[in-house]
Amino acid sequence: MLTSAAFLLLSSFVLSAIAGHPSHNNLRARHARQAHRRDKSFTLTDKYVGKDFLDEGKWGYFTGSDPTHGSVNFVSQSDAVKKGLAFVRPDNVAVLAVDNTTDLSPGQNRNTIRITSTKSYNGGLFIADFGAMPHGCSVWPAWWSVGPNWPSAGEIDVIEGVNEGTVNQYTLHTGEGCNLARNPPASSTGSLAFTSKVLGTTCASSGGDNSGCAFLDSDTRSFGHGFNEQGGGVYAHLWDNTGIKAWHFARGEIPADITAGAPNPDSWPTPQAFWAASGCDIAQHFHDHNLVIDTTLCGDFAGGAYPQSGCPGTCAQAVADKTNFDFARWQINSISVYN
Ligand SMILES: *[C@@H]1O[C@H](CO)[C@@H](O)[C@H](O)[C@H]1NC(C)=O
Repeated sequence: MLTSAAFLLLSSFVLSAIAGHPSHNNLRARHARQAHRRDKSFTLTDKYVGKDFLDEGKWGYFTGSDPTHGSVNFVSQSDAVKKGLAFVRPDNVAVLAVDNTTDLSPGQNRNTIRITSTKSYNGGLFIADFGAMPHGCSVWPAWWSVGPNWPSAGEIDVIEGVNEGTVNQYTLHTGEGCNLARNPPASSTGSLAFTSKVLGTTCASSGGDNSGCAFLDSDTRSFGHGFNEQGGGVYAHLWDNTGIKAWHFARGEIPADITAGAPNPDSWPTPQAFWAASGCDIAQHFHDHNLVIDTTLCGDFAGGAYPQSGCPGTCAQAVADKTNFDFARWQINSISVYN
């Protein structure tokens, strides 16, 4: 991008120097403006849609026990398809569901899905369009990315929440030395640097304290039932050497440049979350991330928060009752990666 912009700029100067005609000054100005725009434009590198989410060459189906101690069996791609937990609708929406057809006894694990992109990333602009996300008592969905040797290569949690939570949480987990800067410079399109409430500023996570540095959204359209009622929406995040920014756009408020496939984050409103490079050396703490979409049940977060969730009984009882999972499914319209 930089190279072609520099070339344009250079060629316009050369052109006007050779020609020496006044009208070429206008040409030069126009080229310079184009070069400036081109500097900030993004190129689509990957777009995942429909059957891509069933393609094991693109997304691996994780079948190990849940590292976050959820009461789940993560099923293989073939089991997910066979059991109707992963499928593509006629309108090309990919669905990843928690089993809602099996009665269990409290203490038994329920079938669900965790997929991880084969490709890994070292930054970019990620635009995820979901028609719906999972929610319900015991349910813990997440859209995130993670590097090797957790937490030293970082984790970026873009969508996360538990039980019948109504707002989204945005979190980073890292090794030692990365912090959320509370007062970074305001965004180019607003007076604030971010719109969400800061929950914690220490990104370093360990076995003992895994809360990370996080923001809590205040918009009830950002998570669960409220998100789904809008027909879902778009979560976009920009990971570059200035920091990591995350935006949520409800269905009716998606910027036209996103829909047009020419995203321009500079024109978007203040992000919901922003971890500025002033508090964290991004390149040092984040690298080689695989993208992950999963839904687990109970475990460290949904189980820990269950007593305060307003849900009845125990988390294990919720897992046993199949009627809790009719809304525990991702509807994925697309995931696009730009660089
Ligand atoms: C499971 O959930 C889906 C989606 O909400 C619903 O259409 C289906 O009827 C449910 N299955 C059962 C057995 O209730």
